[in-house]
Amino acid sequence: MATINANFLKLKAGYLFPEIARRVRAYSEANPAQASRIIRCGIGDVTEPLPAAAVEAMRAGVEELGRRETFKGYGPEQGYEFLRQAIVEHQFAGLGISADEVFISDGSKCDTGNILDIFGQGNIIAITDPVYPVYVDTNVMAGNTGDADAKGTYAGLLYLPCHPANGFVAAVPNEHADLIYLCFPNNPTGAVASRAQLEAWVAYAREHDAILLFDAAYEAFIQDPAIPHSIFEIEGAHECAIEFRSFSKNGGFTGVRCGYVIIPKSVTGSDGMGGRVPLNQLWSRRHSTKFNGASYPVQKAAAAIFSEAGKAQVAGLIDHYMGNAKLLREACTAAGLSVFGGVDAPYVWVACPAGLSSWDMFDKMLSEAQVVITPGSGFGSAGEGFFRISAFNSRSNVEEVCRRLLALLG
Ligand code: MLT
Repeated sequence: MATINANFLKLKAGYLFPEIARRVRAYSEANPAQASRIIRCGIGDVTEPLPAAAVEAMRAGVEELGRRETFKGYGPEQGYEFLRQAIVEHQFAGLGISADEVFISDGSKCDTGNILDIFGQGNIIAITDPVYPVYVDTNVMAGNTGDADAKGTYAGLLYLPCHPANGFVAAVPNEHADLIYLCFPNNPTGAVASRAQLEAWVAYAREHDAILLFDAAYEAFIQDPAIPHSIFEIEGAHECAIEFRSFSKNGGFTGVRCGYVIIPKSVTGSDGMGGRVPLNQLWSRRHSTKFNGASYPVQKAAAAIFSEAGKAQVAGLIDHYMGNAKLLREACTAAGLSVFGGVDAPYVWVACPAGLSSWDMFDKMLSEAQVVITPGSGFGSAGEGFFRISAFNSRSNVEEVCRRLLALLG
């Protein structure tokens, strides 16, 4: 008899975004006349076409694969040197990162989940609340938690609540943690961490011999020049941090799939017997066994993001989405709501009108305005009473969302 991984039975009914899609489908079937009016600002999925430089490079990559003289089979599991090198030069110049500390993948969602493969059991895991649900669910699947309570809070995780009073940036805890997930700019709250706040986290990690799992998927949206884009801008991070990056949101690669992980060779973990093992080695070994590399045309397209033309096209995309975020912030403020985020991040985080829970607000926006938002409680119990609006949309859709928001609440 094949038994199952019983940890999966601890998971809440459905992953947040499929659950939202299910509710939207049910509404559309019950209200066919309204279905075509629905505007989706729930999942943070890009809407604008790929940068032309990436399309051109991907096309050239496919052409190469179609000719005997330039055909390629399996590539290096860790990624092609040309892309690893381009990342170092264009994203980590002067930060002491080398190409063999960059691991190319098919996206950050997979990386932030898969990273648990290289860590042992019994680690104390700290996560912020609200949080990107992947961090929690993958720890549940890996057996790093107990059961969830009625609010969906899992026994065994150290939750770090984020709220307006701390600017949605968790302070270092008094308790010990071994692995800490940080995401800046933050999904879902749109908060960013200052240099001083990141320095405090690096100091904590070094004092506790802990590892920071730093998700910087949204770094390209930072507008404030004082905000660090990488944890490796902080002294000491090369001994205690792993960083996750993605081409999804800056390059519009959500459907193309490409991301990367930075693991400096100086980051080590305990073997439980008094020895230390470089995590870079373990991740490389894991990649070789479980992954055959992102596809060649995709890596060509990713490298083209760093060409002069690619950089200008990406800057245009960022401006577009941040322009949307500004409009959404203004509309929510004009509607009398308390608004957070959306300044250095493509997510606007909003307090629900008095008396409405996150899912009440989701239902109200869907049934009365045909706008899909994300209920804050889907990101953790501290997200209750908030909702998230994604700025990833066309300008005309965002303008229409603003009109409907004001008509509904203004
Ligand atoms: C989100 O909406 O939170 C993101 O699209 C999720 C993701 O990038 O996986």
